[in-house]
Amino acid sequence: MDFADVFEKERATRKFSSKKIDEQLIAEIIKKAQQSPSLLNSQPWKAYVITGDALSKLRKENKTRVEKKIPANEDFSAMLSIDWSTFASQNMSNMGAFVTYFLHNRTELFNDANKNMFDAPYVIYLTIPKKSPLWSVFDLGIFAQSIMLLAINHGISTMPAHSLVAYPDLIRKYTGINDDEAIGMAIGLGYSDKSAEVNASHFIPKRVQFDKIYKLIK
Ligand SMILES: Cc1cc2nc3c(=O)[nH]c(=O)nc-3n(C[C@H](O)[C@H](O)[C@H](O)COP(=O)(O)O)c2cc1C
Repeated sequence: MDFADVFEKERATRKFSSKKIDEQLIAEIIKKAQQSPSLLNSQPWKAYVITGDALSKLRKENKTRVEKKIPANEDFSAMLSIDWSTFASQNMSNMGAFVTYFLHNRTELFNDANKNMFDAPYVIYLTIPKKSPLWSVFDLGIFAQSIMLLAINHGISTMPAHSLVAYPDLIRKYTGINDDEAIGMAIGLGYSDKSAEVNASHFIPKRVQFDKIYKLIK
């Protein structure tokens, strides 16, 4: 695929069809993403792909917890400050995805999609050691982006979501991820359910005015 098309197609997919992906292809994508740059080639990342029965059970328990309003307990919130800058807070409240659904009076579409883990047939959990410098979080983000762009290049849709890592104990139960690894982020993978309203293009949130984020200094 043309790179411009791949980049343009990187949009949140909040409902997947049940169509399977060739698991060998997922492994190849992750292998290729290992080429991503990292601080001193430290490659702090690990990737755990869950599907099938294990994912169905995890999804069911995750949903129950959300419905019971069990507070999220992400590994990253324990490691890192979760205070947001005024700039990021304003962006979230002015043009964040949640607000976009909210403004169309369709917040429940957004909430239900998250609660159901987007019906993703595959989820990749991404970890770094809990004992990591902040650089490793940056590296993990690059690794995640590489995985997503490589997947999109194969016609696969992607969903990066911190709601997927809300309950790390549950994820550990089904994946065996060690306690000394922080489950930082997760990416849902599959083929987009094109008929799902939650995936409609009018829900794509706008971006900040360019001159607010860019400055050329000579
Ligand atoms: C680190 C990260 C965490 C995210 N967490 C969630 C999430 O928990 N739930 C969700 O619906 N979308 C989540 N998203 C998707 C963003 O809301 C989305 O990328 C953003 O609103 C821009 O929309 P677009 O990617 O469709 O252009 C997350 C994205 C990133 C990069």
